[in-house]
Amino acid sequence: MNIKQEILKAFHANPGRFISGEELSQTCGCSRTAVWKHIEELRQEGYEVEAVRKAGYRLLAAPDRLSAEAIIAGLDTKRIGQHVQAYDTVVSTQPLAHEAAATGAPEGTLVIAEQQTGGKGRLGRVWHSPKGTGIWMSLIVRPVIPLPKTPQMTLLTAVAVAKTMREETGVAVKIKWPNDIFVGDRKVCGVLTELNAEADRVNYLVIGIGINANAVAADFPEELRAIATSLRIESGTTVNRVRFVQRFCRIFEAEYDHYLQHGFDRIKTEWEACSYTIGRWVTVKTIHSTLEGRAVGLDEEGVLIVEDAAGARHKVYSADVNYGANE
Ligand code: BTN
Repeated sequence: MNIKQEILKAFHANPGRFISGEELSQTCGCSRTAVWKHIEELRQEGYEVEAVRKAGYRLLAAPDRLSAEAIIAGLDTKRIGQHVQAYDTVVSTQPLAHEAAATGAPEGTLVIAEQQTGGKGRLGRVWHSPKGTGIWMSLIVRPVIPLPKTPQMTLLTAVAVAKTMREETGVAVKIKWPNDIFVGDRKVCGVLTELNAEADRVNYLVIGIGINANAVAADFPEELRAIATSLRIESGTTVNRVRFVQRFCRIFEAEYDHYLQHGFDRIKTEWEACSYTIGRWVTVKTIHSTLEGRAVGLDEEGVLIVEDAAGARHKVYSADVNYGANE
C-alpha cells in the first residue's frame, strides 16, 4: 500500500474526525512533511481535506472517481479488489485484465476504467461505456474447478451484482439468464466471462462487468433508450460508485468463498430466487437450432432447463434467450 492509500485508509477508519499529522506520519511510516505533500496531491485529485492547526487533517469529501486509492482504502476483503488497476480511458478492460492475469496478477485483481472506447459485450456485441457514468470493470479470479463448471462462476457473479444493487440502491433487480441484470424489461448490467484454460485446468477467468450506474436517459444512444436503464434512473439517486465497487467486492468474495468450500447449491438457490427467466416462456437460439418452451429452473450444474410444449426437457448451455408471448 502506498502513502496516499495509507492516508485514505486512515480517513476511512476515522470518519469526520481530525487525525494529527504526527499520527498519520506514524501510520504511514513517513515524515510529517511527506504526509503534507501527499495530502496536497490528494487535493489536486479532487479530495477535500480540511487542515486545522493543532487538530490535524480530516476528509470532507472524496471525488467521484474510481481510483485505486479510493477503492482499496475502504475495502475489508481478503483478496477481491485488493489490487486495482484504474484507468481513465481504455479500449476495453478485458484485454488489459488478460494481460495482467497472464503476467501473474493475483486473484481478485480489478481492472477498472472511467471510459471504454471499444467496450465488449457478449456474442461480439459492442458495450456502450461512456465516461464517468458507469462502472466498467474486469475481475481476475483463479478458481480451482473443473472446466465444465466455469459457467457457474458467471451465475455467481450475477448473484453478487444483483445483491449489491439491491443493498446499495434498493432497486428490485432481476437476473435474465445467464447473467444480464434487468429492472423491469430494461437492462442495467451485463457480464462477460472469458476463460484462459488448458484441456483439464482453468488458468484464470476474466469476468467483465458493465454497470449503468449514473447515466441519465440522454446518456444512452437513441437505439438503447427503450432497452437500457441505469441505477440512477431507477432509484432517483446518484450511486456512489466507489462504495458500490467495495460492496460488490465484499459480496462477491463471500459468495465465492462459500462456493469454493461448499459447491454450487447456494448460488443456484439465490440465482433462482431473483431470476427473471424461470417460469417464463422462452425462445432459445443457439448457432445450430431454435427451441421454444418454459424455463423451469437450473440443474445442479447451473445449466438452464427448458420444457417444450410436448413436455420434453432440454438442457441449455449457451444461447441467446428471448421472451415469448406464450405466457
Ligand atoms: C453483455 O453483453 O451483456 C456483457 C457486457 C460486459 C461489459 C463489460 S464492461 C467491463 C468489461 N470490459 C468490456 O469491454 N466488457 C466488459
